[in-house]
Amino acid sequence: METNPIPVLTVQTSPFDDQRPGTNGLRKKTAVFEGKKNYLQNYVQSVLSSIDLRDRQGCTMVVGGDGRYFTRTATEVIVQMAAANGIGRLVIGHNGLLSTPAVSCIIRKIKAIGGLILTASHCPGGPTGDFGIKFNIANGGPCPDTVMDKIYQVSRTLEEFTICPDLRIDLSRVGRQDFDLENKFKPFRVEIVDSVDVYLNLLRGIFDFNAIKGLLTGPEQLKIRIDAMNGVMGPYVRRILCDELGAPANSAVNCVPLEDFGGQHPNPNPSYAVSLVESLKGGEFGFGAAFDSDGDRYMILGQNGFFVSPSDSLAVMSANLSCIPYFRQTGVRGFARSMPTSTAIDRVAKAMKVALYETPTGWRFFGNLMDSGRCSFCGEESFGTGSDHIREKDGLWSVLVWLSIMASRKQSVEEIVRDHWAKLGRNFFCRQVLTFDYDALDPRAAFYLMKDLEAVITEKAFPSQKFAVGNNVYSVEKADNFEYIDPVDGTVARNQGLRIIFSDSSRIIFRLSGAGGGMGATIRIYAETFERDPERHNRETQVVLGPLIAIALKLSNIHDRTGRRGPTVIT
Ligand code: G6P
Ligand code: ZN
Repeated sequence: METNPIPVLTVQTSPFDDQRPGTNGLRKKTAVFEGKKNYLQNYVQSVLSSIDLRDRQGCTMVVGGDGRYFTRTATEVIVQMAAANGIGRLVIGHNGLLSTPAVSCIIRKIKAIGGLILTASHCPGGPTGDFGIKFNIANGGPCPDTVMDKIYQVSRTLEEFTICPDLRIDLSRVGRQDFDLENKFKPFRVEIVDSVDVYLNLLRGIFDFNAIKGLLTGPEQLKIRIDAMNGVMGPYVRRILCDELGAPANSAVNCVPLEDFGGQHPNPNPSYAVSLVESLKGGEFGFGAAFDSDGDRYMILGQNGFFVSPSDSLAVMSANLSCIPYFRQTGVRGFARSMPTSTAIDRVAKAMKVALYETPTGWRFFGNLMDSGRCSFCGEESFGTGSDHIREKDGLWSVLVWLSIMASRKQSVEEIVRDHWAKLGRNFFCRQVLTFDYDALDPRAAFYLMKDLEAVITEKAFPSQKFAVGNNVYSVEKADNFEYIDPVDGTVARNQGLRIIFSDSSRIIFRLSGAGGGMGATIRIYAETFERDPERHNRETQVVLGPLIAIALKLSNIHDRTGRRGPTVIT
């Protein structure tokens, strides 16, 4: 206990006009957080002020992040401001490290009022990279739009913040640290917790660890390679997959969290997890996985580099949930996917007679469905899958689902996927081929492109149109700007992406990325088509979807309007 009470200061500031949080909280270049005076403090104050005073006084919050550059400084400021703003207790990951799923898990476990996650997810880190702050609410999930609006409103008129600049904590010391503050009756408490413990305990109650251990250590041991991409997942992979589940230590690579992720994009897809793809192509490993920096996204590879697309992963998992004790106990109440995600899971839902919800992009839309018991399992095309065990997508949990399925079905990754296609048909959908990220495109140009396209596809005559490309003819069945009414609280989310659905159930979707960050606009194009015939399941995704992409490019006239000849990045 400190002897002298720590002073609480009120500091004058001026508002910033660009602190509207996006899909993933407030994400900016690190230099903005680091270099602009009070930028961080203003945002933290806006988040704290958005919490009703009665809820805030004496409450508990969780803080942790992916360990990227500036995390320590930001954590210190958050601690000093949380104390000054009446928060009673902060639970912080050891050395500031907590994966996003672990934060969600801890918030729920200790009934915290919410948490702050310091991450810019799969974006690069370091002084020239990105930094971000996400605010999760009491259910453990990302805050809904209403809260994001409130934070933004506060940030626009903010004139002062409160802080205890003399309060110093030791992030490397697990345990309690209490501080007496001026004008406070009770001490402010910081608890530094092991980054993995609570999350590991949750997983123990979900999976059959012995079955997975048998797969990874038995006589016919499955050799795996797991790439933590130098993000926060290293300690989780080592503890859970190696120590607990018996995978040999050399199964796990890039397991030391680095402030700049070794200069890499910690983005688990075939373009960025190149060395993992190469190792798997070598044939030695039967299973491969990579995570993003904060551990909510993942990628699965089979032997010889067989890539499981996120939409297929979602559908295959949904069809095999009975391999997991958790779902055998709780039952499967319903599925949900974001609108652009392929409709492969819809076919599973139909076969299993389970409800399927189609939500806008962004994990926060799953929150109400899960809280109200409507949905047990959900996911998105952007490499995220999860369930109602927490309120975030969960990369390592997804890997354990896959390993459980392999242990139970005694099949390889590729066999499991091919069996799935043979049974229910294959939905060709591949964001790698179809995502056109026009980074740094003038936001107005992107806005007008979408507006004009909306006008075209919502014309009365549009649904009777046919498009012929080569031998393929596609007849429009329905086209709209996707709108979602939350079945729980009735909130309406408009303008969530333009979709064109054809009579053969093929789809083309256009949407503006919601990640924002003041770095221009990103337009995404998704395409999907269904193929029942197993003889045709081996065709190249790019070839199969070529005609739909051609239609998308023509309809939007995107190349002429943006002055680009092709996508900036194909992920
Ligand atoms: C974040 C959210 C995801 C969402 C993604 C969409 O990562 O956590 O739930 O799928 O953003 O990103 P986009 O750039 O397509 O809006
Ligand atoms: Zn992430």
